[in-house]
Amino acid sequence: MSSTSVRTVLVTGGAGYIGSHTVLELLKAGDNVVVIDNFDNSSPKALEVVHDLAGRECVLVEGDLGDADTVEAIFAEHDIDSVIHFAGLKAVGESVEVPMKYYRTNIGSTMTLLEAMDRHEVRRLVFSSSCTVYGDPETIPINEDTPLQASSPYGRTKLFIEEMLRDVADSNPEWRFSLLRYFNPVGAHESGRLGEDPTGIPNNLMPFIMQVAVGQRAKLSVFGNDYPTRDGTNIRDYIHVVDLAEGHLKALDELETGTGCRAFNLGTGTGSTVLEVVAAAGEAVGKPIPHEIVGRRAGDVIAIWADPEKATRELGWKSTRDLNDMCRDHWRWQEQNPAGFG
Ligand code: WQD
Repeated sequence: MSSTSVRTVLVTGGAGYIGSHTVLELLKAGDNVVVIDNFDNSSPKALEVVHDLAGRECVLVEGDLGDADTVEAIFAEHDIDSVIHFAGLKAVGESVEVPMKYYRTNIGSTMTLLEAMDRHEVRRLVFSSSCTVYGDPETIPINEDTPLQASSPYGRTKLFIEEMLRDVADSNPEWRFSLLRYFNPVGAHESGRLGEDPTGIPNNLMPFIMQVAVGQRAKLSVFGNDYPTRDGTNIRDYIHVVDLAEGHLKALDELETGTGCRAFNLGTGTGSTVLEVVAAAGEAVGKPIPHEIVGRRAGDVIAIWADPEKATRELGWKSTRDLNDMCRDHWRWQEQNPAGFG
């Protein structure tokens, strides 16, 4: 960002879990922010909290990124410098049941966004990708040269969008893309007022644990303890959502000079087993998390964690919060908001 002008950033899906934490960091950094969100998987209350925490507001457009007129109006009315693109469907299991909904929504809306950007010569975008594009890797830790092999329709939408962005960047050197491959986002803003608010029964480990801790669920089912790992349960690279948000600002800043289409792993570089997370959560909550070992969940990979060196080297970013920080902050959010944003 040049020293004199204030940057205006369009954030798609900016009311979501990672989106809202990123909008907060952008507002705190002095950027102007325009958010488009259809609130399918998020609440406008998240942005009310963001405005209060930041002491300033973003422009909110309630609408669908797949609607070309809505998207065109945003670029016509605001002098957008760059885009952070979070909006999309993200439930792996659901994507298997309704793949066309995922292809239409995730890929179709990204094409609508890129076409509007092209018309208005806005050519810098940070994309919310995922470690899911690595599928079940041969070797870990994973670096960005690890072969890509998505194993669900959701993962394939992320992979196809990455390929589309690589092709667009190859077609015109003016385009600059940063593909951020998240590992397992958890945690919440330290205020306890912003956090993950999954719809229905949580698919993911940490929100389920915290709903058990707050009394909303009876106990956690641990999906298998007969894997070839140190305690028999799967290993993942859990990363604090605020570390992730900070990574987006680093990537956006780097696109002032960085060129082409480059991918970065946003992980801690440390793997934790399911039972280690359960134990750390119990410490944060102050009481053990009721759980039982059940059968394996179809599609779970045994172990996956990041080599985040490229993001450190090229973006100047490194995670700073550990698993205890993640559990402490996630619990503060859950305890203060048992029903999420309601
Ligand atoms: C983690 C571990 C489960 C719930 C997800 C998304 C993926 C990406 C990363 C976005 C596994 C175990 C879970 C439960 C359990 N996100 N588990 N009981 O599957 O690694 O990946 O986050 O792009 O797309 O799918 O995360 O939290 O579902 O599972 O034992 O009730 O916890 O078996 O080992 P996952 P998860």
